[in-house]
Amino acid sequence: MRKSATMFISSITGNTRLIANNLIEELHQSGWRVHLYRKGNIVPKENLVILCFWCRRSSIESTTLNFLRSIRGRKVIAFCTMGGNPNSPYGLRVRENIRMEIEENNTCLGVYLCQGRIDPERTWRRRRLPRDHRHYLDDEGLKRHLKSQSHPDERDVNRAKHFLAKQIRMLRIDEDKR
Ligand SMILES: Cc1cc2nc3c(=O)[nH]c(=O)nc-3n(C[C@H](O)[C@H](O)[C@H](O)COP(=O)(O)O)c2cc1C
Repeated sequence: MRKSATMFISSITGNTRLIANNLIEELHQSGWRVHLYRKGNIVPKENLVILCFWCRRSSIESTTLNFLRSIRGRKVIAFCTMGGNPNSPYGLRVRENIRMEIEENNTCLGVYLCQGRIDPERTWRRRRLPRDHRHYLDDEGLKRHLKSQSHPDERDVNRAKHFLAKQIRMLRIDEDKR
């Protein structure tokens, strides 16, 4: 099996970047070659594609989505950081939205979700809106936003590395069978 991956990273405030950097380290330690995608690069057909992105509108944010729509027939693993709780009905919905987007033209091997610190500027902007505005952040929402502040933490990072290691193991077993 050729151990080569193309990684696409989209991170504005650094949460996803932290996860991605740890994944790169994990891949290198396992003897993988990692190509960081730059606009215009060709993604070799045999490369595993690893998407690292942040959640927007309960799904994949747009630059990642544009990249995803430019590839076909690839095996894809997704790592997403989100402000909401991944272990909730909302988290399930986000996971499904991501899977559906990937499965459109590619094969989704797995989706990893973890919480990522919401930019406090965004929290207070929404808190200051009129109460009847659809983006007004109520008390429950504020609690949720504040809870996100400690993520991604060490546990999130370790879980991401284990998730990747497991996916790679399964990929190997699958390819060795052929
Ligand atoms: C414009 C905007 C939209 C967002 N939309 C969502 C959303 O729909 N659901 C969610 O759970 N988090 C949402 N978030 C929170 C981010 O996904 C989360 O903070 C993420 O970890 C940011 O990653 P980064 O630090 O790599 O940029 C949004 C953040 C921004 C700035």
